[in-house]
Amino acid sequence: MSTDLAIETNGLVKVFGDNRAVDGVDLRVPAGTVYGLLGPNGAGKTTTVKMLATLLRPDGGEALVFGSDVLKDADTVRGRVSLTGQYASVDEDLTGTENLLLLGRLLGHGKRASRERAAQLLDAFGLTEAADRQVKNYSGGMRRRIDIAASILNTPDLLFLDEPTTGLDPRSRNQVWDIVRAVVAQGTTVLLTTQYLDEADQLASRIAVIDHGRVIAEGTKGELKASVGAGAVHVRLRDADRRPDAERVLTVALNATVQLEADPVALTARVNGHGTELGAAEQAARALAELAREGITVDNFALGQPSLDEVFLALTDRKPATEKEAVA
Ligand SMILES: Nc1ncnc2c1ncn2[C@@H]1O[C@H](COP(=O)(O)OP(=O)(O)OP(=O)(O)O)[C@@H](O)[C@H]1O
Ligand SMILES: [Mg+2]
Repeated sequence: MSTDLAIETNGLVKVFGDNRAVDGVDLRVPAGTVYGLLGPNGAGKTTTVKMLATLLRPDGGEALVFGSDVLKDADTVRGRVSLTGQYASVDEDLTGTENLLLLGRLLGHGKRASRERAAQLLDAFGLTEAADRQVKNYSGGMRRRIDIAASILNTPDLLFLDEPTTGLDPRSRNQVWDIVRAVVAQGTTVLLTTQYLDEADQLASRIAVIDHGRVIAEGTKGELKASVGAGAVHVRLRDADRRPDAERVLTVALNATVQLEADPVALTARVNGHGTELGAAEQAARALAELAREGITVDNFALGQPSLDEVFLALTDRKPATEKEAVA
């Protein structure tokens, strides 16, 4: 058990009837970072978060938050975490200000301190103008922002953000992302669940991909991308006459199909990374060295990384939600 970990779970399980919603999840979330929990609908993300936030009892395994057990030390855990749920928690009939004031008082702050903090948060979240409107009349983006404001009234050590930007337009999503970055800059650890790879790509330093209640991949974005191996080498030759030779050399060196571009000096080959211990960059470098050895001059070359979308598809056989679907 390390105190440098905000979250540690070992074989965490939650069963609903005969559905093992969370089926042996092991997580290590370093303190002070944004950690992404990525997965398709029904993967078990919200269920995992609820157990960590002490809102659901695990049926097996253990879960520690800053070293405290969510079952045995539930009160300690509750004192350090805050949750912004997929289904939000502010009172629709109250105004933005009233919601934050009420929460401030519930958290034990004085009247004056509560007022000050509410005003400060409304300002920071761009909600000052809407402060005296009932939350039920807020737009989706405003609603999401007041939810997050409510959850950081007391700066928590660990903040759970469960799909904080689902359904938001790109501009509102960017605002929420800025807020998350600001919260983390103040030392809070964030566990972010999302179906959007671009969101995880923007915010998270490490990501666990979860599907059918299990972690099927874990690592930094770079590691996850490298793990599916995909990537493409684009090469431009000095001399179009050498393209057939270059094609032959690259086919052998990369063990891949080489595509001839419309541009007569250009070729593209996928680096699949399969059947070799080498990373894509190393493979590409060796292929370039082969070209040089054959006396083929390369004018220009680029190695493209696969997107997290490709990673997700390769791992789950399912397409993630796209930004377009998010706004629809
Ligand atoms: N209270 C509950 N009772 C019964 N089944 C539940 C309950 N909560 C969740 N489940 C089931 O557990 C599984 C995981 O659900 P969960 O909400 O954790 O998924 P998720 O990854 O958050 O999905 P989404 O992206 O749709 O929010 C699903 O099959 C779901 O139907
Ligand atoms: Mg969910």
